[in-house]
Amino acid sequence: MDLPRVTIVGAGQVGATAAHLIALKGLAHITLIDVVEGLAAGKALDLSQSAPIEGFPVSVKGTSDFNALAASQLIVVTAGLPRKPGMSRDDLLAANANIIGPIAEKIGQLAPEAILIVVTNPLDVMVSLARKRSGFPKNRVMGMAGVLDSARLRAFIAERLKVSASDVQAMVLGSHGDLMVPLRDSIIVKGEPVSSQIPAAELEQILDRTKNGGAEIVALLKQGSAFFASASGVVEMVQAILKNTGSILPACVYLEGEYGLQDVCIGVPVRLGKHGVEHVVELPLSDSERTELAASAEQVRQSVERLAQLQTSQH
Ligand code: LAC
Repeated sequence: MDLPRVTIVGAGQVGATAAHLIALKGLAHITLIDVVEGLAAGKALDLSQSAPIEGFPVSVKGTSDFNALAASQLIVVTAGLPRKPGMSRDDLLAANANIIGPIAEKIGQLAPEAILIVVTNPLDVMVSLARKRSGFPKNRVMGMAGVLDSARLRAFIAERLKVSASDVQAMVLGSHGDLMVPLRDSIIVKGEPVSSQIPAAELEQILDRTKNGGAEIVALLKQGSAFFASASGVVEMVQAILKNTGSILPACVYLEGEYGLQDVCIGVPVRLGKHGVEHVVELPLSDSERTELAASAEQVRQSVERLAQLQTSQH
């Protein structure tokens, strides 16, 4: 069937689950790539054998050969180490930079027209690194975190109010970390502001739980980290791009003045379509939200600088 090809680099839990969802939705042919010999090929073979049952029209290939990147319109990078209990996403900085840097360079060489979605943590820093090392324009490099963080917030609110999560509108901006920025005043449940339905102190607890949503799961799992909701977040972005829907979703992108922020990759609402990031949507923020977003951006900038120092001392 005449479908685009999505390549997923990293055939771990997030990558394989995203592949499964892309197949079930019939969005694209899929290539899975993993450095671990046999891992991508094995998962691809297994997934392709579910096609007769599920009836999806997509082909799934798996390989450890990065040259397979060449055929892709859209590339999702999930490769990297997950957190262990007690680790912050920043603890992964140097280790995952050494994985993402070379992959982004390869993507730049082999698939120079592709659109790139990064999922590896620490997310905002990895997006920044992938942008530099791929040499891609800013509309074709983005990170998935805001969709996940917003989904967690929506799920917690829906559970508390015993409503369907689809009745909850909420958006989380900023970095994928402790300084993420939930837009409190724009949380709407069944058309009404959440402030009229959940007491302020309790809402703050829900926002804190959202900020620690990844760590809560890491602590329960004891090895590995969350992947179902992350994969769903990736696939929502993949769908918006491949189907050119124009959906407005939070994503980590490179800013040049939007929200008063310069030269930093951070989560903001964007319109996604066939060119990738079609537009950064500038919502009116309250003063405190603006301050929180600036603090979040400052933290990302510091991590980017710390990484640059680490890399200089490595050489
Ligand atoms: C999470 C990690 C994977 O938020 O960043 O679940």
